[in-house]
Amino acid sequence: MDWGMKNRFHRIIRPEDGRTVMLAVDHGYFLGPTTGLERFAETVVPLLPYADTLMLTRGALRNYIPPESDVPIVLRVSGGTSILNKNLLHEGIITSIEEAIRLNVVGVAFSILVGAEFERDTILNFTKVVDEAERYGIPVVAVTAVGRDMVKDVKYLSLATRMAGELGARIVKTYFCEGFEKVVETSPVPVVIAGGKKIPEKEALTMTYSAIEAGAAGVDMGRNIFQSENPVAMIRAVRAVVHEGYTGEEAYQLFEELKAGGGEE
Ligand code: 5RP
Repeated sequence: MDWGMKNRFHRIIRPEDGRTVMLAVDHGYFLGPTTGLERFAETVVPLLPYADTLMLTRGALRNYIPPESDVPIVLRVSGGTSILNKNLLHEGIITSIEEAIRLNVVGVAFSILVGAEFERDTILNFTKVVDEAERYGIPVVAVTAVGRDMVKDVKYLSLATRMAGELGARIVKTYFCEGFEKVVETSPVPVVIAGGKKIPEKEALTMTYSAIEAGAAGVDMGRNIFQSENPVAMIRAVRAVVHEGYTGEEAYQLFEELKAGGGEE
């Protein structure tokens, strides 16, 4: 890796432990005012001290995040369809690399829909973004397996993850599944898990622990943090699993303690 690529990569995957807590708040680009993000800045700004990176769209970044903030940004650059479209996530390129550079990002994120009717479109657009981003030393995070119709088992997730890595992703975001070790072992690049739809805090922390145990580099988690009854306590508990070796159970205890104390330091 060239210096710029290496530097940006390590502002996502922390060099101290090879892990990351990416906070995903990019949902508005297809879901609109997602539950928990209606008053975006109010929810997200207090979480910034605990996020290794923030994943979002250019509109959310410009309008809600203070430019004085030093949180590294991973910019969502795919989109084009909404939750109302039956071909949800038949995505194209929505933001140029020139714009990403202007926004001083450390990475860009693009969804590929392996196995969908339109997989070819999403994959060819993804590789265009990879070509352009690599020219400027910007890592591309491939987001895989989003969509209601996919059976998110180890066979499918290994296929989608490996393809993303071979096609040029520097990091792959996918879902946790039974047998996740295989997804990690057969990926050429670090793998992080999405949280998926909101589940009880204890389950989300247990899933995070299982993913880390299976070799994941961390999380790129959204709803299970910002829709938590205490988002600050939850991101701190997730951090404890990813960076401090807590088990799911220990992290849940921490969550409860932090929640009782209000979540803040
Ligand atoms: C869909 C996405 C999401 O917008 C988001 O990043 C997913 O995070 P979570 O499932 O943890 O809410 O990647 O393309």
